[in-house]
Amino acid sequence: MTIRAGLVGVTGYTGMELARLLAAHPAIKLVCATSRTDAGKKLGELYPFLQGFELAETEIIQPEPELLAACCDLVFLAVPHGAAMEMAGKLRAKGLKVVDLSADFRLRDAATYAEWYGQAHNEPDCLAEAVYGLPELYAERIRTAKLVANPGCYPTASILGLYPALKNRLIHCEDLVIDAKSGTSGAGRKAAVGSLFCEVHDSFKPYGMPRHRHTPEIEQELTRLVAEPGLTPHVTDQGHKPLAGEALTVSFNPHLLPLTRGILASIYTRLRPGVDEAQIRAAYAEAYAGQCFVRLLPAGKLPELRNVRGTMFCDIALVPDFRTGRLLIFSAIDNLCRGASGQALANANLMCGLPLELGLEAAPIVP
Ligand SMILES: NC(=O)c1ccc[n+]([C@@H]2O[C@H](COP(=O)([O-])OP(=O)(O)OC[C@H]3O[C@@H](n4cnc5c(N)ncnc54)[C@H](OP(=O)(O)O)[C@@H]3O)[C@@H](O)[C@H]2O)c1
Repeated sequence: MTIRAGLVGVTGYTGMELARLLAAHPAIKLVCATSRTDAGKKLGELYPFLQGFELAETEIIQPEPELLAACCDLVFLAVPHGAAMEMAGKLRAKGLKVVDLSADFRLRDAATYAEWYGQAHNEPDCLAEAVYGLPELYAERIRTAKLVANPGCYPTASILGLYPALKNRLIHCEDLVIDAKSGTSGAGRKAAVGSLFCEVHDSFKPYGMPRHRHTPEIEQELTRLVAEPGLTPHVTDQGHKPLAGEALTVSFNPHLLPLTRGILASIYTRLRPGVDEAQIRAAYAEAYAGQCFVRLLPAGKLPELRNVRGTMFCDIALVPDFRTGRLLIFSAIDNLCRGASGQALANANLMCGLPLELGLEAAPIVP
């Protein structure tokens, strides 16, 4: 079985990463890629690193839903929010499966989307059918989904880091601090002064505080986890609906690293009384048992970005600090692969009845 895939936005960094991953995928074939500026070229001409692969011959076309519908079973949208919403609506109307890498379908509440993204949500039907594409939590729903909202890069690292501790009530729901650092590819490939080599190289800075757009996404998903029946009664008893900004809040603080790829989230939490290290390790081991892309590091080891580069791995280290009453969680991913295109491909695998890890099994590029 060969799945015919389309890629809208092949000239961006996540589009480039998807093309790289699809070059070696045994069952999903890239049959069509779009760009408004480079339409007419072949992929191998745009990306010399693809020369010699079959998809180098793929001709880049304009992002027209009719053209995509004529040749694809599934389409990846690797375009900015707003543009993705419009395209997803048209592709879904034509019956295509869609994996959207933008934020357009991640927030379940249209009003929250409007508040944080500064524009109205125009595709309520698509929003209602979208499944949040974090495979460790929602694989079953993703398998039958027609539209997957691929998680943001920071939310992927943050949610995977916090999920077992919150779900098992090992930490308090309040006073969660996510101190996260990302390489510059996270800002996309468009020309911008803030991403220039001389602006980023040999320096380090916080940005986007205190209202980075990934905040409501992290809050929405973590609230949903703790609001499940039987967990954390102090949240559910208040009658909170699991919407972003309600019940559970996080202090999310992003920084820009002078690196191309990678996200390291250092997460500071408060331990509940009586919780010991064995309980913490057992909860994480159980939550991620059988999950091939989450690697729990042994006690005393801390994650490094190079160990996840170009892969789907999320490396998590747990450091209970009983002196200060905190559980420190360190979560490392590659923003372009695990935080975007690799995760999108994993979701497409599930949506097409393929094994989650197909085409995503390569080891990291080191050193
Ligand atoms: N970078 C990351 O680490 C990362 C991680 C997770 C999620 N994301 C999300 O993934 C999406 C793509 O990110 P990126 O970093 O790859 O962005 P990017 O490098 O800026 O690329 C954007 C792409 O979208 C195309 N595009 C822009 N406006 C369009 C429109 N109106 N219609 C059709 N195509 C359009 C551009 O192609 P042409 O101009 O050639 O048409 C380009 O290929 C964004 O929504 C982003 O938030 C990014």
